[in-house]
Amino acid sequence: MHQDVTTRYMGLPLRSPILVGACPLTLKPEMVREVAIAGAGAAVMPSLMEEQVIRWLSRRRSDTQDHPPEAELWQSENAYNGGVESCLKTIPRLKRQCGIPIIASLNGGQDGDWLSVAGELELAGVDAIELIINANTSDPTCTAEQAERPLLDAVRRVTQMVSVPVAVKLLPFYSTLPNLVFRLSEAGARGIVLFGREPIWEISDGDLVPALHWQLSSPGLLQTTLSGLIRVRGSDPSLSIAASGGIATTLDVVHAVIGGADVTMLTSEVYRSGPDVIAHLVEGLSGYLQRNGFDSYRDLLASRQKQTPKQDRRAKMKTMLAPPEPGDPVDAKPPHGDRWGHLTTPTP
Ligand SMILES: Cc1cc2nc3c(=O)[nH]c(=O)nc-3n(C[C@H](O)[C@H](O)[C@H](O)COP(=O)(O)O)c2cc1C
Repeated sequence: MHQDVTTRYMGLPLRSPILVGACPLTLKPEMVREVAIAGAGAAVMPSLMEEQVIRWLSRRRSDTQDHPPEAELWQSENAYNGGVESCLKTIPRLKRQCGIPIIASLNGGQDGDWLSVAGELELAGVDAIELIINANTSDPTCTAEQAERPLLDAVRRVTQMVSVPVAVKLLPFYSTLPNLVFRLSEAGARGIVLFGREPIWEISDGDLVPALHWQLSSPGLLQTTLSGLIRVRGSDPSLSIAASGGIATTLDVVHAVIGGADVTMLTSEVYRSGPDVIAHLVEGLSGYLQRNGFDSYRDLLASRQKQTPKQDRRAKMKTMLAPPEPGDPVDAKPPHGDRWGHLTTPTP
C-alpha cells in the first residue's frame, strides 16, 4: 500500500512534495511530462533574466530591429531559456500536456518596470512565480538594509500585480535570514526557497578565458540547506518553505522536511539520474512514512512541530562540550611523523 504523499505548496495542491527546481530541463514538455508521470509535485522553469526582459519590452514597444552586436547578445541570452516570447508560448503547452503546477522564475538585480512581465506570465497560465533579486553587494557603503530593499520592493510590486502566489528564492548569504524571511512574508511572499545557487566562474585550460557555468551540486550542499531551514522555521508558519540544494536521496528529503521544509526541489540529481529519480524518491518517501507509522505526508508535517530543536546557545554548548562519541573528529589523533617514517614530536 502506498501512503498519501499529496501536499500543498503556497496553497497549490501537489501530488508529492518532490519538485523539479529551476533549470532548462523544464522547458521541454516531454521532460516535464516524464517527471509528472514519475510523481513530481511541480516544475520550475529556468529563470528569465531582467536584462532579457528589458530588451524584450523595449523591442516590443518600439518594434525596431536590433543592431547586429545587440542581436548577437540577444541570441546567446535566449539560448539558455528560449527567451521571453518562447517561454510565454511554452507555458500553455506545459500546462496542457503535463498536468502539474508550472512555476515561472524571474531573476534580476533590482525592482522596476521589467517585473511587469510577471503579469504576462500569469496570463500565459503559470501557477506561481519564483523571484530571485540579488542586489549588487560589492559596494562597501551599501548596508544590509539597502541591499535588501530592492528585493522587498520587488516582492510588493509583483504580489500586487498578480494573483498567483509568489515565492522568493534566496542565496544563503543573509546575516539576519529569519528577519528577512519575516519581512518578505509581510511584503506578500507566500513561499521561500532555500537556497538558490549562482553559476560559478571556470577558466578553461585551452583559452584561459573565465566563463560562467552552472555546475551540478554535490551532496555536501545539503548542510547549507538544512542550516537555513532550521534558522527560518520559526519565522512565519503561514509561509511555505521549499528546500533546494544537495537533495538526492529519500533520506535527504526526509531530513529537509524534518529540518523545516514543506516541499523539496531537485535539479542536479535530475540531470544526473534522469526523471526516474523522482519516482524513486516518491516511492522512498512513501516507504519511510509507512515504516514510521505515518498515514500520510501531512501527518509527518504535523508531527514535526512538536520536535522543534532548541536553537539557543545553551543547546549548542551542550553538543560541543559533550564527551566525544566513537568516530567524532574531535577525538581523532592526527597522524604524526613524516612520510619516510621519521617520528616527529607530537604537540602536547
Ligand atoms: C544546469 C542548471 C541550471 C540552473 N538554472 C537555474 C535557473 O535558471 N534559475 C535558478 O533560479 N536556478 C537555476 N539553477 C539552480 C537550481 O535551481 C538549484 O537551486 C540548485 O542547483 C541547487 O539544487 P540542486 O542541488 O538540486 O541542484 C540551475 C542549476 C543547474 C545545475
